[in-house]
Amino acid sequence: MWPAIHVVATLLSWVHSAQGGLLLPMMIPGAPLASSGASSSFNFSVSLPPATSYSSAFSVSSAAAPTASTTSSRKRAAIPACLKTVELSCLNLAANCIDSVKGGNFNNLWGIPSCVAAATCYGVGDLITSVECQTGFTVTNAAQASLDGSIYAGMVSGCTSCALTQQNYVDFYYGQLSAIGTANWPSSNAIVQAFWSAITAWTATGLSVPYQNFNDWLHYSSYPTIVTTTSTTAVATFTQIPWNPNPAPTSGAISETFVKSTTTVIIAIPKATTTVVVAGTTLTLAPGGTPINVPLPSGVSILSATTPTWNPNIIPPTSVASVTFTAPPSFTTIVAVPTASAAPPKNITGPPGDLNIRGENWWLLVFGPIIGGLLPPDIGIPGGSTPTAAPPADWTGEWSNPEPTSSTSTKSSSASTSTSSSSSCPQPTAVYSLSDDSENADWDGLGADPDRRRSSSTIAARAGRCKPHSHPNPSQHPTMLKAMTLPICQITTGNAIINPNTVSLGGGIYYTIGLKALGGTNTGLSQINVNGRPVGNGGGTVAQEHVFEIGYIKQFFESLNNNGISCTWIVNNVYTRAGWDGRTWALSLLQDIDQTANMVWVDKPMNQAKSNVVNQNKASAADPPQRQNIDKITDFSTPSSVNLIQDAEYFIRNFAALGTYFGSTAATFQATALRIQNRLAQVTPSTPDINLPVAFNSWLRSLVNSYPAGCTSRAANVFNYYRNKMSGVANQHNNGVVPQCFPLFPTGINAQSFAWQNLVPPPPTLPSCNIPGTQGSLQFGINPNGSPENALINFRVLGAGRSDLYSFGTGSDYSDPHFVAADISSIAGCGGAVNIGPSPPGTAYPDAFLSPQCNGQTGKRTVPVSFVVNGQSLSCVSLYSNVPASGGGIGIFILCAGSTAAATSCATSVMTSNYPTGHLLAGPLLFIPS
Ligand SMILES: *[C@@H]1O[C@H](CO)[C@@H](O)[C@H](O)[C@H]1NC(C)=O
Ligand SMILES: *[C@@H]1O[C@H](CO)[C@@H](O)[C@H](O)[C@H]1NC(C)=O
Repeated sequence: MWPAIHVVATLLSWVHSAQGGLLLPMMIPGAPLASSGASSSFNFSVSLPPATSYSSAFSVSSAAAPTASTTSSRKRAAIPACLKTVELSCLNLAANCIDSVKGGNFNNLWGIPSCVAAATCYGVGDLITSVECQTGFTVTNAAQASLDGSIYAGMVSGCTSCALTQQNYVDFYYGQLSAIGTANWPSSNAIVQAFWSAITAWTATGLSVPYQNFNDWLHYSSYPTIVTTTSTTAVATFTQIPWNPNPAPTSGAISETFVKSTTTVIIAIPKATTTVVVAGTTLTLAPGGTPINVPLPSGVSILSATTPTWNPNIIPPTSVASVTFTAPPSFTTIVAVPTASAAPPKNITGPPGDLNIRGENWWLLVFGPIIGGLLPPDIGIPGGSTPTAAPPADWTGEWSNPEPTSSTSTKSSSASTSTSSSSSCPQPTAVYSLSDDSENADWDGLGADPDRRRSSSTIAARAGRCKPHSHPNPSQHPTMLKAMTLPICQITTGNAIINPNTVSLGGGIYYTIGLKALGGTNTGLSQINVNGRPVGNGGGTVAQEHVFEIGYIKQFFESLNNNGISCTWIVNNVYTRAGWDGRTWALSLLQDIDQTANMVWVDKPMNQAKSNVVNQNKASAADPPQRQNIDKITDFSTPSSVNLIQDAEYFIRNFAALGTYFGSTAATFQATALRIQNRLAQVTPSTPDINLPVAFNSWLRSLVNSYPAGCTSRAANVFNYYRNKMSGVANQHNNGVVPQCFPLFPTGINAQSFAWQNLVPPPPTLPSCNIPGTQGSLQFGINPNGSPENALINFRVLGAGRSDLYSFGTGSDYSDPHFVAADISSIAGCGGAVNIGPSPPGTAYPDAFLSPQCNGQTGKRTVPVSFVVNGQSLSCVSLYSNVPASGGGIGIFILCAGSTAAATSCATSVMTSNYPTGHLLAGPLLFIPS
């Protein structure tokens, strides 16, 4: 028997047809007779057609192509960090699944074919964890709707009463791989059969599995735990280890021999930090015997020790038999480690097009294991450690950076020729030390900008992990948490919205004009893929920053408030209001921004320059960015003043490149802005005072529009201010001569601009009237006697998270019952027709989105409404059944199809066969705002 399809149990009202026996779908009982003044309630329901008529069109449109018509989904893609490492065909299915999940269907995973297939190989619990990671929604096993009947029907070739066989399953698995256009197929059929065996072992139903048991397996076979067990095993974590260039005793050595001149000292390999004195020279040794803190003094040697050569590759975990290499979005390969030092290295080829800076996409796995060749920058090794070109902590001796960055190494030759012309010129020091303008103090005092209050000792988690280290006691790591305030509405530091998850950039893009120590006049911005925090111009001089800043949320709501939206409205509808998944909208917005996908590494002066522009400060020629520091330049010879000049030149060069930074990061900026715009489109305020996504887009447009000039004018201002200051110092102290040691002074800069339009997402095309939050009644149509049939209960226009259409429902937002469409093609005369009405979310029904016909009008308007299902705008006809509905009143059904004629003929057919005393209502469906 067809298993129970438990849909909308509370609203469901099965109506037996006059012909008896057959369950007739689509019954929407209970519109009250307004004309009779009946005070009965209104009730809608929809139900599934019988199994035999379950059309494949329904499942295809609702599940197989769930994103086709959803603007908010177009740019989605599986976030690599949300996926665990599995067999590649399975990984592709899981990626397609989590990519297909959107707001309305995260509780209907078993209505998405690729999710059903992915569950069978990836594990139910892990798949749900990955979906949660991707969407940010709270997704549970328990909340999932039953396996979609049409998917099951497809698996068993339409024999829905049949149990699933291994062959059915194998066909389904390969069929889904084909449907998603996979590039990876199982290396053997045995792999797929093994997935099946695991299912039959669980269901204990023998060789085949009936629907109900397979549905049970999908619901109960594994529970995701709150703790991210998948991420601890599957997600790559990386440790940064500083570079120690001193010799180390060979592995396995039991003693260490130091020689200086005629003195020899032999010690046991130290197990703790220790010191040894060799002919009057004191050395400090780390456990294991490597000298630390300073280079091994010249004249001292350590016999048989190995002096390491710099290798920027990730160091695989020690003592493993195989090494896993990963790359986004889904590259994974596991390679056995050569078993002897004489064994040839393994030559591994990365994903196509993934090149290292030498233009190669191969590297070697050598006995040890160590990596030979050069890893492309986005290749990861779970559990590995990445050497950073930084000196170890406590290093006080001379230091030479083993890894001048690729882009700057080519420029260094030209830069050094320009500065070497005057050999008396002081070389710039490595460290950039201009303080921030006081106006640029962190927007929220709590770390809205990731690095403003960052603790320097944190081990960077690489590349945005799913649930990075969550600290049970955030006060232990206050510097890592990001916060959002809105002081204008009394949301300040004490009650700021805080992201409880630590989000920290590891591997990513580093934007730099090259190191300050190279000097010169370069203002060309390079993008470098890095595996972790770059060294930059010394400790703390590279910032991980949000491309789209958290502070924009504050700026946006301040602008609304300045335009008459009250703090009460903002706080009650956004800041403290729980959204679809239980998080407050404010936290969702914060977490939409605070993502590694929205983060890059930049040199501190670039970060400072950007702050001037986005904070809209230091805008005048008389008070340009860094004025206070430039004012401190006193002369051309004392080291502190020379360093100030060199820092100022470096800052100005960064400012000149800021336009290119904005232009280069435009796609990231726009993607994050679109997340915000779509998030705001999910909100249904209690009163329709402003259309949030529309207001956001126009606010952002007018803001960002000012940025190109904001970049170029400030860069020009700060350069002019600097030049005047230098001339003034020269006149006072140097006979009017500025030494040639300061290359920017004579050359000046060309500040770079960019196309601001690329930063802003397309404006929403939402209907202009009856915006979300508008309440009102629905007029079904006009009775033959001329009186209108109105619903007595109120409906509300709801934000649906889309940029083109609203939703329409009976609760306070889209997570409450709202209009969906049930396919009634199986009813005679109703081919291609649907029955629409409100239903709780999370069922298999596609949404029936609301499109009020505003005709350019704004505000609350009585207008005809149409509904859009699966991207098609439908014409609807209301059928007055003249039969009392179970909830009271008289049943009225809204039947819709591609044309009014088709809808009318369907309604006539239903009326003739089931409601002979009913009639069709005339005129359009009208929304009447209250
Ligand atoms: C590794 O393989 C690539 C491509 O097959 C080849 O070009 C490269 O020379 C090989 N490297 C070594 C060291 O054998
Ligand atoms: C809708 O119908 C159900 C079942 O007939 C009933 O329990 C419920 O009270 C009705 N709802 C309203 C709002 O009348």
